[in-house]
Amino acid sequence: MHQAIYIPGDGIGPEVMDAAREVIAATGAAIQWHPIETSEFFSDNGSVVPPSVEEIIRRTGWVLKGPIGTPVGKGHRSVNVLLRQTFDTYACLRPIKAYPGLPSRYPRIDLIVVRENSEDLYLGIESETAEGAVAEKRITRKASERIARFAFDSARKLDRQKVTIAHKANILKKTDGLFLECSRRVAGEYPDIQVNDMIIDNLCMQLVRDPPQFDMILAPNLYGDILSDLAAGMVGGLGTVPGANLGESVAIYEAVHGTAPDLVGKGTANPTACILSGAMMLEAMGEDHAARRIRQALEKVMSQLSLLTPDLGGENTTAGMVGEIIQRL
Ligand code: NAI
Repeated sequence: MHQAIYIPGDGIGPEVMDAAREVIAATGAAIQWHPIETSEFFSDNGSVVPPSVEEIIRRTGWVLKGPIGTPVGKGHRSVNVLLRQTFDTYACLRPIKAYPGLPSRYPRIDLIVVRENSEDLYLGIESETAEGAVAEKRITRKASERIARFAFDSARKLDRQKVTIAHKANILKKTDGLFLECSRRVAGEYPDIQVNDMIIDNLCMQLVRDPPQFDMILAPNLYGDILSDLAAGMVGGLGTVPGANLGESVAIYEAVHGTAPDLVGKGTANPTACILSGAMMLEAMGEDHAARRIRQALEKVMSQLSLLTPDLGGENTTAGMVGEIIQRL
């Protein structure tokens, strides 16, 4: 029996996360879940990871997490970022793939975004100045080499042929320049993987014009976040893209999407991203068979528009789509 933490999250989180758990349970994979509510991450001083929560997450090592809201322009720091920092889940892996049955303007997109998760502008270190405000963008040699090694190792493991390094080193010569230099140096240790690099603005344009040229993209934190939403939009939207935040001893699996305030309570949120995040966790746990069954069932459902939620062009509900997936397991 595997032990795993379950964080339902906010907004549509509980709806789509329950869906993921239901589908996982239907495969027969034995997981004992330990639920943690979002409220446990708050104290009078803002967002925290209390010692008892930290202990159980470290002990189990596996977390399936729903989205947690963060106020815009004010208020507490992001719990999502806090969790990544506390458990040093430095590598974010987001596979983005068009479903064969789903009508799409980009049927040939199949790429993995590897995003550095521990530094860059996400440190959230900002200060006000007389003229306005300043944010700290920190890039270190250690974190850049670590994420580059993770990307090239993952490319080998996942049978990817090419890694494209995203940067803006023409303007940010010291920070992005260092990220690029470290990534290129590590790339030299992997002669079997092709490597190129691209300035982030051109990369965005190339991605929408000719997606098959990308196999894996290695990016610093902010560009990686934006790129994965952009690519998600090309394969049917945020409802379909899963993700993993990986460290040495803790792995946090979560959809790329947020709390979708516009969909709360409608019962029509797409559960795919959370279900696939669960499948990624199952694979890492060694439950490959269960994960494969989920992917195959989902693929069958994806080929019939009427079985899908409205974001994909269907008219189904979350619960209805989950029922169709379970029926095909
Ligand atoms: P969002 O991802 O919640 O929503 C963006 C758009 O995608 C909306 O139109 C929404 O309806 C749609 N969408 C998202 N998930 C969907 C699903 N499962 N099915 C169908 N449509 C879906 O991003 P937004 O609005 O920028 O952020 C809302 C809140 O979520 C914010 O408080 C933000 O901080 C938080 N957030 C949390 C994340 C996390 O926990 N990892 C990641 C991104 C945002």
